[in-house]
Amino acid sequence: MAGGSLESGSTYHPLGNSRERCYWIAHIKLSRIIILIAFILFIVPLFTHYYLSQVEAESPMMDIHRTRSKLEAFEDFTSMKASDLKSRIEEMLRIKVSVSNELRDLEAKRQRLQMEVNGFTQKIDDLKQELLHQQTDLDRLKMSVVQAQAAQREAVERNTPELAPPKRILMTSPPAIVPSTDPYSCKMYNCFDHSRCALTSGFPVYLYDPDLFSIINPGWDVDGFLRTTIKQTLGYNPHLTSNPAEACIYIILIDELLPVDSTRAQGFKHPLDIVKLHSLPYWGGDGRNHILLNLARRNLTLASGNTFANVDTGRAILVQSTYRRNQYREGFDLVVPPILGPPGGDIWQECAQMVPARRKYLLSFQGEMKSSRSNPTTSQIDDAEIDLARLAEDENNLDSFIIQHLKEMTSGTTMDKFYLQFECIPASEEQNNEAVDWYLCGTESSRKEILKESTFSLILAPTNASYVSTASIQARLYEALRSGAIPVILGGDQIVLSYSEVIAWRRAAILLPKARVTEMHFLLRAIPDNDLLAMRRQGRLIWERYMGTAQGAMDTIIATVRDRLGIPPLPATQSPSPSVFNESFIPLKSDTIISEPEAEESLGPLEPPYPSPAFKRNYTTMFIHGHEIWNDWVNPFNLYPQLPFDTVLPSDAKFIGSEVGFRPIGKGAGGAGKEFSEALGGNHPREQFTIIMLTYEREQVLINSLARLYGLPYLNKVLVLWNSPKPPMEDLRWPEIGVPIVVIKAARNSLNNRFLPFDSIETEAVLSVDDDAHLRHDEIMFGFRVWREHRDQVVGFPGRFHAWDQNYHNAWNYNSNYSCELSMVLTGAAFIHKHYTYLYTHWLPQAIRDKVDEYMNCEDIAMNFLISHLTRKPPVKVTSRWTFRCPGCPVSLSEDDTHFQERHKCINFFTQVFGYMPLLNTQYRADSILFKTRIPHDKQKCFKFI
Ligand SMILES: *[C@@H]1O[C@H](CO)[C@@H](O)[C@H](O)[C@H]1NC(C)=O
Ligand SMILES: *[C@@H]1O[C@H](CO)[C@@H](O)[C@H](O)[C@H]1NC(C)=O
Ligand SMILES: *[C@@H]1O[C@H](CO)[C@@H](O)[C@H](O)[C@H]1NC(C)=O
Ligand SMILES: *[C@@H]1O[C@H](CO)[C@@H](O)[C@H](O)[C@H]1NC(C)=O
Ligand SMILES: *[C@@H]1O[C@H](CO)[C@@H](O)[C@H](O)[C@H]1NC(C)=O
Repeated sequence: MAGGSLESGSTYHPLGNSRERCYWIAHIKLSRIIILIAFILFIVPLFTHYYLSQVEAESPMMDIHRTRSKLEAFEDFTSMKASDLKSRIEEMLRIKVSVSNELRDLEAKRQRLQMEVNGFTQKIDDLKQELLHQQTDLDRLKMSVVQAQAAQREAVERNTPELAPPKRILMTSPPAIVPSTDPYSCKMYNCFDHSRCALTSGFPVYLYDPDLFSIINPGWDVDGFLRTTIKQTLGYNPHLTSNPAEACIYIILIDELLPVDSTRAQGFKHPLDIVKLHSLPYWGGDGRNHILLNLARRNLTLASGNTFANVDTGRAILVQSTYRRNQYREGFDLVVPPILGPPGGDIWQECAQMVPARRKYLLSFQGEMKSSRSNPTTSQIDDAEIDLARLAEDENNLDSFIIQHLKEMTSGTTMDKFYLQFECIPASEEQNNEAVDWYLCGTESSRKEILKESTFSLILAPTNASYVSTASIQARLYEALRSGAIPVILGGDQIVLSYSEVIAWRRAAILLPKARVTEMHFLLRAIPDNDLLAMRRQGRLIWERYMGTAQGAMDTIIATVRDRLGIPPLPATQSPSPSVFNESFIPLKSDTIISEPEAEESLGPLEPPYPSPAFKRNYTTMFIHGHEIWNDWVNPFNLYPQLPFDTVLPSDAKFIGSEVGFRPIGKGAGGAGKEFSEALGGNHPREQFTIIMLTYEREQVLINSLARLYGLPYLNKVLVLWNSPKPPMEDLRWPEIGVPIVVIKAARNSLNNRFLPFDSIETEAVLSVDDDAHLRHDEIMFGFRVWREHRDQVVGFPGRFHAWDQNYHNAWNYNSNYSCELSMVLTGAAFIHKHYTYLYTHWLPQAIRDKVDEYMNCEDIAMNFLISHLTRKPPVKVTSRWTFRCPGCPVSLSEDDTHFQERHKCINFFTQVFGYMPLLNTQYRADSILFKTRIPHDKQKCFKFI
């Protein structure tokens, strides 16, 4: 056996004919070591064997020989006399005693020798084991040398030096005064001063304090609540600067203006004091880079909305809900929804559940035109003889026809139910003579009740087509999205929806020309359930992020303008990683040499830790993924160091021109197990992973788990999250595992800490493990390799699923039974992308983290919900061999039961918060490619066991 392993050892020649000189020197040295070890191992057992066989062969034979000759001498004892007989017998007895003594001695000797033999055999085994370890280490060393050489070569050959981050360039003086230009033809290129907004400026925003710079004429009522809220929410925006000299844009808050006494409103001057506006300190003569914020909230009719009509606002960007067509400067002014939600916080409770896809009413509408009550033409239209072109010329008539048609649709033979109300009962308070648009019937809550029961919500573009947007249209859209009634906008081609330069409205709303009213019913019927729910989900994402709260609305306004300028957002904040040890304390190191129980397989090179490259795509993410940022990830507010959605290079680029960082298998020639274990391969450059382990007062369990990580390839760092308020025992001995162990003091004992975006996590891949999980090295390696191909998913070991409760309908159960379908992979042993720790901590509704704290449970379920919600993909389960959790840990049945009960409750609660069940089923498990494949003897599988 020793010979066998030696043979495989001496044929081990992973590097072929490399031209590297230094490699040869290293190789020769290594070969010598092998030969030396082989020599020792050959000679020692050989001598042992020889010696033993001599001893064993000789001694027993000699004994028998001697005894035999003695006995032969007394063969003729029968012929002897009786007197002699006694003495003879005595003599023989004496001889017998002496012989048995001799035999005893010999037996003792034999046993001693046997023990020695055993001892030597043991030694041989130990040496064999040792050889195996040495050999694995050697292999690893070789691999590591090769990797180090590759890294060095890359460093030398790199002809594009790492660019230093550019200096933050800021303006130092307020805008200079220049003569005014024609403000009506304003676009970004001719009216915006880009020189104030360097790419690396971080987009500083200055807010004129509305209490110091009032530009409102007396007689107009300012919405104090809105003003305070907006001032406050802007204060939370990280772009806000207090230094006007460096600002890129200047915000002027107008609020919603209402006449103090509407009957006397005509007597007052225009609400804005133009002289004061033009003499604002940074106006610079024409209001370049100024933003006039006029946000509707209380009054959604037209009169209050269009404050800027016929006012010289210069080159300032207008932000409001109501625009006349000739006033709106496309690509320059911004259409926004009214601020109807709370200042901030969780708003999921406002929303309706998404399922069932089809609700009681197919379509609903509640609104009234002031003119429609007295319009005599309504009944005169003959459906058979409509001439849409003629009708379109007369906007009122077209609307009358639409109403007529919709009324007939309701009373037709269809089984579909409609809730269409074109006259408000009771009459709306908001009714007034100035309205040019459909105003909303009823109260907000009564409309909400109907919308919650509507599959689609009809939104009619203003009768007066000279308006591209009105506050009431935007409010209708807001209310529809909130309740999950998919907006159907008749006249969608004549209006501009909010933030339409970044939000893909076609994914959430159906926009139709008014002329399609006759085909609308047919079209709505043709939408299948899956598309219906996709649109509803999209609408809710948009509503929750960009409209639902004042904070979201303000952040969105700033982000939209920033996006226009191509300036990246500010980096997302990370969590600090304070050490549990104070500065003066040096934790004790364990001096026991860690044995490697799983060292029979070489799994990869041991390399010094290196972080994943960060912030490489500051600008290109916006260009390439702009659509996804706004519409899929709904997260344009932060810049992340890396994303799980990065673009992948074509395979040939890895060899021609863009080699840096790539470690193709067999240098690109491919190969089976041996070449595989030497290189990461795959479609992404080399990288490492970080282990994060949460622990609470189980020091020995933790230390054992840490010790098992010794020699794990691609490991960058281990983060131990010390959740206990008690610091670790001072005499605790921490194992040396070849990578840094960072012990972080948790601010409080919470399972949410597991997913904090710690600044000490320097890799994209994070392996989250329980302190008692026992994962083998080959399992971890395989999991890591699988994760590299599924970077946006949870990739891990313990699979679970959500099961529909047969007995109590409308409820989910958490299930951990054996099953061929799963929907969750527990983060007690799973890889996730670091990006998701930002989202878990800052993006997920607070209610979910609160529930996790309440139960001290379910954080793993929450992470699975989050990732499936964002990606609409199930997790990936990786094969595992000997995974067992906390052997010997007593878990009482009742404890187990409450644990499960809580998890049932969590699943149902999270489903409510998300508005639907985001988890998806999968029947897929990852095994390595050559697992269970018959391969030639001279080839190795990818992994020995998995
Ligand atoms: C990208 O942005 C981050 C954060 O602002 C910064 O630290 C980094 O240096 C930037 N990288 C480049 C290449 O500009
Ligand atoms: C909205 O404004 C109109 C016109 O100024 C006024 O008549 C009406 O009372 C206002 N409504 C509310 C709710 O303030
Ligand atoms: C539409 O509204 C504008 C502005 O209020 C008004 O001047 C125009 O006459 C209106 N058009 C019709 C057809 O009512
Ligand atoms: C640091 O921690 C050690 C052990 O917990 C403690 O004995 C020592 O007093 C601490 N030193 C300081 C300066 O707090
Ligand atoms: C799991 O399986 C066992 C035995 O088949 C069954 O009694 C139990 O009800 C199952 N648990 C769940 C949650 O379905």
